[in-house]
Amino acid sequence: MSRIAYVNGRFTRHRDAAVHVEDRGYQFADAVYEVIAIQNDRFVDEEPHLDRLERSLGELRMAPPVGRPALRYILRETVRRNRVHNGIVYMQVSRGVARRDHAFPAHRDSSLVVTARSTMPKSSARAGGVSVVTTEDIRWKRCDIKTVGLLPNVLAKQMAAEAGAYEAWLVTPDGDVTECTSANAWIVTAGREVVTRPPTHAILNGITRRTVRAIAEREGYAVVERVFSLDEAHAAAEAFLTSTTSHVMPVVRIDDRPVGDGRPGPLTSALQAHYDAHAGMAPEGGTETAGTGSAEA
Ligand code: PDD
Repeated sequence: MSRIAYVNGRFTRHRDAAVHVEDRGYQFADAVYEVIAIQNDRFVDEEPHLDRLERSLGELRMAPPVGRPALRYILRETVRRNRVHNGIVYMQVSRGVARRDHAFPAHRDSSLVVTARSTMPKSSARAGGVSVVTTEDIRWKRCDIKTVGLLPNVLAKQMAAEAGAYEAWLVTPDGDVTECTSANAWIVTAGREVVTRPPTHAILNGITRRTVRAIAEREGYAVVERVFSLDEAHAAAEAFLTSTTSHVMPVVRIDDRPVGDGRPGPLTSALQAHYDAHAGMAPEGGTETAGTGSAEA
């Protein structure tokens, strides 16, 4: 089966899908994006993702390419045509095509590209946890906007890959952890506080982060949004990261130092199970769970 992509009003073969050379996403990274998980034919937390897309567009004064009902339809159609039952749908909106000039073009014709693909759960990593390395956060001051300008993230992720690590945790010159290259960072302190950085301009306010926060509060855990340092992370009882594609992923090593006893901690594992149920993911080796808060695909 050949993959299908949506590009500006047309479904086309993925291998032929292309945007213009003067698309501002290509020229200036003048574009924003979202990634939504599909789990057992359901979109996970679709509306919060579409809300965040609208927010990113608004912060950059970019016009939405289509209304929300049309966008929902295009996402579903892309998922259907690619026969994705478990995977992701990716959407990118750029400020459109215009002769290269840094200032905004006169027109408001933004471009929309949508792709979808199947993904497999990373079961061994999810069960055993992953290692992360740390590096300086060299990004701009509006990391709350989900733009495709991801070069610092790309460089840090490559560094992690070359070190055999799953992710890189980004650290300010003051020694505080902001987030990961494509996920949010969390620690659990010895006093069982679940800590993650507040959603300021320094991080992307992850949809998974918000859901996990709500789940942790519902379960009666002490959740604290505050800045935490790399030293605290090294001394933490548990650590994990959250994202659309990684769900709740235990972090068992930070820079070659084990976190706690070097195995996924009990609180992390509990949150992972709760989040998987929320996402409608079948437990490892078990049967499908109903899931909540998800729209039909
Ligand atoms: N990444 N922080 C950054 C910098 C991210 O790029 C992401 C998501 C997150 C987690 O956000 P969410 O829980 O909404 O997925 C945090 C996506 C998945 C990506 O770039 O592929």
